[in-house]
Amino acid sequence: MKSAAIIVAAGRGERAGAAHGPKQYRNIGGEPVLTHTLRNFTNGSVDHIVVVIHPDDQALCQHACALAGIQPHLVIGGRTRQESVLRGLEALVDFAPETVLIHDAARPFAHGVVNKVAEAVSELAGAIPALPIADTLKRGNGAGLVQVTVPRAGLYAAQTPQGFPYQPILSAHRQAAVCEQEFTDDASIAEWAGLPVHLVAGTPENIKITYANDLLVAEAQLDLQDK
Ligand code: C5P
Repeated sequence: MKSAAIIVAAGRGERAGAAHGPKQYRNIGGEPVLTHTLRNFTNGSVDHIVVVIHPDDQALCQHACALAGIQPHLVIGGRTRQESVLRGLEALVDFAPETVLIHDAARPFAHGVVNKVAEAVSELAGAIPALPIADTLKRGNGAGLVQVTVPRAGLYAAQTPQGFPYQPILSAHRQAAVCEQEFTDDASIAEWAGLPVHLVAGTPENIKITYANDLLVAEAQLDLQDK
């Protein structure tokens, strides 16, 4: 069964402090975040890797890919994550994998979930890693007051990689691109299109680097991993 991974790396990472460049190219443990991210997929879990990038980042991306030992199939991304994923999916039309894993470049610690998701998706249904919500959830009233506490039982925080059979997620993404709604992950597009999505156990270390502080947490996690 042919499989592919799409690593979306076309964001500008402004919440992490754009002055130092996009977060996926910032160094942790002396190497770009993207290099660590790619290594999660170079152990034979997929047959082909597409990296979706911003047009200004070609040299940065080539460098990060070379360090991870991969010859990248580079695709230029779009204005939103959703557009970037669709461009990655369209770039796989000729390769025509049976399954695809869609992953954020900003999650460098996915080693504990890649194989679980790949295995689940080989049954030809969607699968996402997710963690039960640990915090108490509040809905605000828009004016700084708590309106209600939302019961957290049965609620999960979704991670990536999110795995899907290729053709169904490609057509779901194509349909989603021309509807009004905006989607923040690929599983919500699959749900909207009526595709089943299974939950597999996420890991606490599979963090998404969003804020500058997350780079410090990532450094600490790397230190722990090396011990
Ligand atoms: O900004 P955020 O962390 O939510 O982005 C999630 C992932 O989507 C990141 O790896 C980012 O590079 C990617 N992205 C993209 N194209 C965009 C926006 C985000 O590939 N236009």
